[in-house]
Amino acid sequence: MAKKANDVSWTPEMLEKGGYPHFMLKEIHEQPKALRNALSLRLEVCQEAARILNDSQQVYITAAGTSNHAGLAGRYMFTKLSRVRTQNILSSEFPELTGELLCEDDVVLAISQSGETADTINAVKHAKRQGAKVISVTNVVGSTMSKLSDYTIYTYAGPEYGLAATKTFLVQVACLSLLSLDLSLMRGSLSDGEVKTLREGLMNTPYVVDRTIKRQDRVVRDVAYQFANKQSFLFLGRGISTATAMEGALKLKETAYIHAEAYPAGEFRHGPMALIEPGFPVIIIAPPDETYDRLVKNLGEVKVHQAKIISVVQEDDSEVRALSDHAISIPETAPMFSPITFVVPLQLFAYFVAFRRGYNPDKPRYLVKAVTEP
Ligand code: AGP
Repeated sequence: MAKKANDVSWTPEMLEKGGYPHFMLKEIHEQPKALRNALSLRLEVCQEAARILNDSQQVYITAAGTSNHAGLAGRYMFTKLSRVRTQNILSSEFPELTGELLCEDDVVLAISQSGETADTINAVKHAKRQGAKVISVTNVVGSTMSKLSDYTIYTYAGPEYGLAATKTFLVQVACLSLLSLDLSLMRGSLSDGEVKTLREGLMNTPYVVDRTIKRQDRVVRDVAYQFANKQSFLFLGRGISTATAMEGALKLKETAYIHAEAYPAGEFRHGPMALIEPGFPVIIIAPPDETYDRLVKNLGEVKVHQAKIISVVQEDDSEVRALSDHAISIPETAPMFSPITFVVPLQLFAYFVAFRRGYNPDKPRYLVKAVTEP
């Protein structure tokens, strides 16, 4: 039977979790601090990586799981802000999909929290054999991936014990954001003033994450408990929020064992819409960015079929809020970096659903922290 949040009894193990019942919740709460560390990344570290990227003909981002979702957000920033040709390829598919096409003018940006994921290491080895340069983004100093790479950016999130990646996703996106801003300056795709404004927005994200956790924890828990017995969830976003939607769906799948699917909201109309029945829970990620108006339109199309809408919106939002059954608010934040802030309620949602269903989100069945078997 489902447990209540206040059923948790204290054990010695909980002390090492800093009083939290699970590492996942502790690590969600550590995110503002981890983010501040990542954002204080030495300037020259990012600039050197940006220089390598700037000299490239083509950038490939490769990763698995959550790190791949950070990479999807990275591609959006690289193409949109820095105007660099960028492709994402899952590391498990990378050798087959790039074949013999890589060359020494290409840069492969490999992202891995552990730096030990077999598929990503294999992708890095393949890239090196083809003569491409490799920059790795990892949390673990001295990891296999960093040793194989030409250049490494460390994310400094501290150890992550919960199986579900939480704080490491935020810091990966933060590092890619810093990189993208440096790259934009180098390429002249943004003015000094534009970069300054974006950088200020990025530097404010730890505060936004902190406020979101403190103010929305209860709200998210209550919504999660209401929906904890659902069989299936849909996560919709547009633009950079597709990455956020994918990460939210992955968290729910791996911790609560619920089928969850993420879709770019525009693509959803091309078939999957047929799945919607009255009461079907749809989670909408709606930052006030350039996709907002089209997202509102898509939301209306789903709402017509009587889906139950849970939205993640900015505090001053009115349109999406009016169409929602439940709205979770984020303080005003830079929309370009919304995966950092808008993913936080989705992590909490997965955590509370898993908890309500009686599962230990730190130790999901069948899963390991790093998939090191080839
Ligand atoms: C994330 O919650 C998962 N546990 C998993 O998808 C993970 O992100 C993936 O296995 C990649 O791991 P890595 O970042 O250590 O390479």
